Amino acid sequence: MKVLMVCLGNICRSPLAHGILAHKAKESGKNWIVESAGTGNWHIGNAPDSRSIAVAAKYGFDISQQRAQQLTQEMLDYYDKIYVMDEQNYQDVVEMTQNDAQKSKVELFLPGGTVPDPYWDDNMFELVFKMIHARCDQLIKEGRK
Ligand code: 4NP
Repeated sequence: MKVLMVCLGNICRSPLAHGILAHKAKESGKNWIVESAGTGNWHIGNAPDSRSIAVAAKYGFDISQQRAQQLTQEMLDYYDKIYVMDEQNYQDVVEMTQNDAQKSKVELFLPGGTVPDPYWDDNMFELVFKMIHARCDQLIKEGRK
């Protein structure tokens, strides 16, 4: 399975989801490809936000080598699942889709909920990490090989 995690900047939320799910998939013997991207272009080529790197490291995940990229049409074709962090991401990604096959891949990462943008609030990173971590555990349990 090929999974793409998407948020706005690809420096706070989706790098966490990417790093945690990739780590857990590998650990549980799943041959998954996990990546991340942003709908925006501001941070292309940048490492994740230092606050995301720090909270991930605190819980044993190294996301420091990731580099931000912007979502492309090719990604909408390539990945099997495209998980978005909030309603705005959902809207932006669906607007980019060009056919039903692409559109049907787009889902909220948290079923029926959103992962809030922590960019402007240092205190949110811990909560955001925990939300993402719990959902990654669930995806591993539900997931195919
Ligand atoms: P992310 O957070 O979407 O979780 O990566 C943000 C990062 C940067 C900005 C907004 C949200 N920004 O406006 O630069």
